[in-house]
Amino acid sequence: MASTSGHPEAHFTAEAAYTALITGGTSGLGAEFAQQLAARGHGLVLVARDGHRLADAAAGLRARYAVPVETVAADLLTEEGRATVTARLADTANPVNMLVNNAGHGLAGNFADNDLERELELLRIHAEVPLALAHAALRSMAQTGGGRIVNVASVAAFTPNGTYSAAKALLVNFSRWANVFYRDRRVSVTALCPGLVHSEFHDRMGMDKRSIPNWMWLTADQVVREGLTDANAGKPVSIPSARYKALALVARLAPDAVVERLVRRSR
Ligand SMILES: NC(=O)c1ccc[n+]([C@@H]2O[C@H](COP(=O)([O-])OP(=O)(O)OC[C@H]3O[C@@H](n4cnc5c(N)ncnc54)[C@H](OP(=O)(O)O)[C@@H]3O)[C@@H](O)[C@H]2O)c1
Repeated sequence: MASTSGHPEAHFTAEAAYTALITGGTSGLGAEFAQQLAARGHGLVLVARDGHRLADAAAGLRARYAVPVETVAADLLTEEGRATVTARLADTANPVNMLVNNAGHGLAGNFADNDLERELELLRIHAEVPLALAHAALRSMAQTGGGRIVNVASVAAFTPNGTYSAAKALLVNFSRWANVFYRDRRVSVTALCPGLVHSEFHDRMGMDKRSIPNWMWLTADQVVREGLTDANAGKPVSIPSARYKALALVARLAPDAVVERLVRRSR
């Protein structure tokens, strides 16, 4: 596997078949990860809450790509669901070589007006759950010759915008650190930071998408393709598309006064 950041070769390569566990693998970006990885011949473990939808997705992928597909019906916001998934990641006899921490949801409204439990759930699904799964995966991957972790964050991580962007910023910061720290265990950790993508995400949170200009939308195909390329290159952060790379750069370099104006406009 070619590496632009000095990662040693793991025992698996981008060409050889391995197993990827994808949380939220039945819809949007997670389903696209499943498609693209299956098309490259990799086995899958798909995690989501809806068992029927999981079974349908798995059957479709097996039929189309002839790869092994396991399903784990689990709600990652419950202790039991999280334990089931961490146990699968800990099974070094049947190793998972790539973890895609992707499951998530949005929340309309603002922090103080929303129910605190909904805000804490948002923090848990976008920060605590990916950290817990990465913890289990890092321990196993160290024993099984290495691997890759992709944390699906967001360009929202680069601008202050409530609990969602704060949780995604945590994920980016954690990934940047872990990508350096676990290099000697042959594990790369990449924060994938997409802009807006058509999926079920905005419909599920009841958001009206009509006011968002077309140029701001990316396809799941492009986001996942660029994300996998960057993860395979061992990059700490992946921002798909030139337009969002530019926007993220501006957001990171903007003085506080400009950021404040942006936050006021988003109220
Ligand atoms: N869409 C965007 O514009 C966008 C932009 C930047 C970042 N992202 C991030 O991309 C990730 C995927 O979002 P998406 O747009 O693909 O959303 P999506 O189409 O709504 O898909 C969400 C997936 O996560 C699963 N899921 C949700 N809550 C879960 C839970 N508690 N336990 C287990 N599985 C759960 C869902 O399946 P079940 O309902 O069956 O559980 C579904 O498979 C999220 O982390 C999101 O923050 C999205």
